[in-house]
Amino acid sequence: MAFTQFKHSGTLNPEISVCEKKHSSFAEKAAEEGIVLLKNENILPISLSASVALLGIGADKTVKGGIGSGDVNNRQNITIYEGMEESGIRITSRDWLDDYEHRYQKARLIWKEKILEEAKHVNNPFDAYASNPFIMPEGRPVSEMDIQEAEIVVYVISRISGEGKDRRLEKGDYYLSEREEKDILFLNSRSVPIVLLINAGGPVELTDILEKAQWIKGILNISQLGQEGGRAVARILLGEAVPSGKLTTTWAKKYADVPFAENFSYLNGNLELEEYKEGIYVGYRYFDSFGVKPLFPFGFGLSYTDFKIQFCSIEIDKDKIAVNVSVENIGNTFAGREVVQVYVSLPRGRIEKEYHRLVGYAKTNVLKPGEKQELKILFDGKTIASFFEDANAWIVETGKYGLWIGNNSANLKLEAFINVNQDVVLEQTQKLEALVELSEKLEASKNVKAAEKQLEKSRNADFPTIQFEALQRKQKAGNVDRESLVMGNSLEILAEELPVEELIPLLYGNTGGISSNLGAAGIKVPGSAGETSEALYEKYGVPVLIMADGPAGIRLQRSYEVNRENDSVYGIGVLGSLENGFLVTEKPHQNADTYYQYCTAFPVGTALAQSWNRQLLKEFGEMIAEEMEKFGVNLWLAPGMNIHRNPLCGRNFEYYSEDPLLAGSLAAAVTKGVQSKAGCGVTIKHFACNNQEDNRMGVDVHLSERALREIYCRGFEIAIKESKPVAIMSSYNLVNGVHAANSKDLCTRIVRDEWGFEGVIMSDWNTTEPKDGSIPWKCTAAGNDIIMPGSENDHKSILDGYRSGELSEEEIRICARRVLKLIDKLRSSYLVMSE
Ligand code: BGC
Repeated sequence: MAFTQFKHSGTLNPEISVCEKKHSSFAEKAAEEGIVLLKNENILPISLSASVALLGIGADKTVKGGIGSGDVNNRQNITIYEGMEESGIRITSRDWLDDYEHRYQKARLIWKEKILEEAKHVNNPFDAYASNPFIMPEGRPVSEMDIQEAEIVVYVISRISGEGKDRRLEKGDYYLSEREEKDILFLNSRSVPIVLLINAGGPVELTDILEKAQWIKGILNISQLGQEGGRAVARILLGEAVPSGKLTTTWAKKYADVPFAENFSYLNGNLELEEYKEGIYVGYRYFDSFGVKPLFPFGFGLSYTDFKIQFCSIEIDKDKIAVNVSVENIGNTFAGREVVQVYVSLPRGRIEKEYHRLVGYAKTNVLKPGEKQELKILFDGKTIASFFEDANAWIVETGKYGLWIGNNSANLKLEAFINVNQDVVLEQTQKLEALVELSEKLEASKNVKAAEKQLEKSRNADFPTIQFEALQRKQKAGNVDRESLVMGNSLEILAEELPVEELIPLLYGNTGGISSNLGAAGIKVPGSAGETSEALYEKYGVPVLIMADGPAGIRLQRSYEVNRENDSVYGIGVLGSLENGFLVTEKPHQNADTYYQYCTAFPVGTALAQSWNRQLLKEFGEMIAEEMEKFGVNLWLAPGMNIHRNPLCGRNFEYYSEDPLLAGSLAAAVTKGVQSKAGCGVTIKHFACNNQEDNRMGVDVHLSERALREIYCRGFEIAIKESKPVAIMSSYNLVNGVHAANSKDLCTRIVRDEWGFEGVIMSDWNTTEPKDGSIPWKCTAAGNDIIMPGSENDHKSILDGYRSGELSEEEIRICARRVLKLIDKLRSSYLVMSE
């Protein structure tokens, strides 16, 4: 018996399917939950009878998501204009919007010409695209005429960012454009209430304009909401849905408030080296430890109603600390949801510590006015531990840990203590090879005094207290469930039986693809990102696994043609795979069938995360799995879970948060959803420290072991231990001088030896291609099992490494075994049996 794949993925029927409809309504619900209300001075919700001037570049050109491999080629997007119109809001600014339409179309054509021209002069046309993201043109200046009949102005600020390029610290990107600023000041001078909608992959600096324009009465950070964004925004504006999103990243007052902001990526002119001098002080850990007031704190978000959060008790519940709270909707009109956040402040002892950190959170159901709900928030011992470099250990240091409860990092109340009488060593770690000295470190000790004082005062007060030792007795150390990745073993046996040379193709992707075709090197499912080797298929029946990008949905080609005569697929090249084919003009082929693969564009990672809703993310994962199954995808190249270290990172929109606990727990929820379907697996990425896009393949990130473990690896650790993702993607960059895909520290010591990860690690695409990129045979030696998308050169290097004795037979067999195990586990869904 052999396995064959289904012939062509997708369907010949272009009509909207039942699944698509179901997923659209979920995308709308998720979008609603991701919207964060940042300011509301009696303006929102608006009444349906209000006439609204809808202005700003994203009004009818709403940005659904970022660009690059994180883009989704879906059927249709609902813009804010369309969503508002559909819901019956009277929009009075049609002239302005029509004018913008012309400007936009013109700018698109000019941009297209530019990309096509530049693509002729680079090896990989993707580079021409990635280094020139489309910049939305300015609109015409808003005038009296545009607001004549309006009672309210809704002004949309949109930004496009994505893979391969960081955001610019310039007007029109991180800052408002001149036109936006002038428009808003004009509107302000006419005393018309303004609601700003921020439609960007991350923060846009608003501090100055908020000082100057007091008629800005409302701000919604809508982020990038996917295909149904316009509908979700309309429902929130009208109060048909109530905002319940919270920021997952601190919005600084000034860019310079971000630690070492001036050194980020391209800003200091050095793209070769990025020193993480701030150490563990990332995001609110910095702002709150150093007493720097942000514009909007981490975890912040308003509602149309008010809630009372009450601490009930703290207890030890099995092997966790449990915090019980009750939440009541104390408003009169709106039903809504609140997110309760629990932080722990840490004693400074032998090593300095951050002022506090998030240890748990929970979101209520929709509570009607007067309704109450009790929540239990659980966390384990490691959540309050710190990494001691001198001891190579995770230790909970002696002292009093304050337990703070509230609804953002700046609105917390001390409620209880966790007492640690003696240092508790939770885990002993291995010594890492790649460690460096930083040229400078952020010394907290001089600066944290103010923050500490407040803490000290409350230390002496009488609060409920639990003893950490009581938890310790119940918690088994390093409780890694090694049985979790139970996989079949019928193919695995090949890893022992075949000559080692025959196994080598398993260690890189299917070279039948176009290796330079970033994000679309897959052959069998058009528009997929890549696949595992088919070299062992004919002889041993080892099928390929199909990989497709995320994280805002599944990235495939929306449609493709098949030659009826020879049944072959017409390729569309790199540029054709981008932006739904906007960059190429191809006539339909004669005598061809068109197959459709309509995937859903859900909200981007950050927007999903802003829901702070694990249940929602699990359901999202289930929908992803349904689409994977439908199109024959086995491995989803998501969730992306790098840390929002700096607001300018071009791919922050794909990632969840500046906080590893939040990022890790949300990634775990998505993973549980995706992997609930047999045959579907996730690939959490990019491991680790892929926090900038300019020179992402060459930048060497230098950081302390403590920051590496506490901030940049911690989210991955949480996701792995909680949800057992089947795969990890290593990142392009170097970490302390070693390419992530060549790093035994990352790929073996930390992930496998310490966390018990049993799945597969694959490289990011083309990491072995650049001259000074990662070295193929060293990927295998490090434990990076598959090099993607795979090339002849990868084969040669591994073979040469083996023949020269640098790479051992055992190292090859170990990687091959893991790949075969994964193929065994996932192949079931898209393959059909044949005689
Ligand atoms: C991106 C990955 C993506 C891969 C395949 C790379 O350029 O960094 O996130 O999964 O391409 O498309």
